[in-house]
Amino acid sequence: MYDGDIASVLITEQQIKDKVAELAKQVDEDNQQGGDLLLVGVLKGAVMFMTDFARALPQPAQLEFMAVSSYGSSTSSSGVVRILKDLDRDIAGKNVVIVEDIIDSGLTLSWLLKNLASRNPASLEVCTLLRKPDAVQVDVPVRYVGFDIPNEFVVGYGLDYAERYRDLPYIGTLDPKVYTSGV
Ligand code: XMP
Ligand code: MG
Repeated sequence: MYDGDIASVLITEQQIKDKVAELAKQVDEDNQQGGDLLLVGVLKGAVMFMTDFARALPQPAQLEFMAVSSYGSSTSSSGVVRILKDLDRDIAGKNVVIVEDIIDSGLTLSWLLKNLASRNPASLEVCTLLRKPDAVQVDVPVRYVGFDIPNEFVVGYGLDYAERYRDLPYIGTLDPKVYTSGV
């Protein structure tokens, strides 16, 4: 699949699986007060992580999705966010966990946290599979982090380049020829 497009495998399918189980266990342990968790997945990148995470979680969780678009280029976000698809239900009084694929500048997440906090959830936490180095510069509280990765563009396991590679079961870096040949 995608022969020759992937320069290197950064995180294998097994490493993802182990980490998802570990994160799910942590979230479960921190939420023993009763009441279903409500997971908010950010489309489309977080879909694979969200579905695996929900199945690894020992306790029931409701699944909600939001789609947002950040103004600016496709590779860097401006922090100005537009909601393309909002949640289907009220989150007031719920224990909400935002499930993210990757935090890069942290601007998207910072906006999302403010937006969801204004809806009065009982609690609001963030669980991200990946985090890039720049993210630490933004003051966003992220309780659960899967992997801290280098500042490289990555694809797979939900993450895309021009809508491709989301279906790879692992996370890898792209061969530069993919950017230069045009899709
Ligand atoms: P910020 O900078 O607001 O942006 O934290 C997070 C969003 O940027 C996208 N992004 C990536 N997508 N490979 C991708 O496929 C990457 O390496 C990458 N880095 C950032 C992604 O949409 C994420 O939600
Ligand atoms: Mg993308």
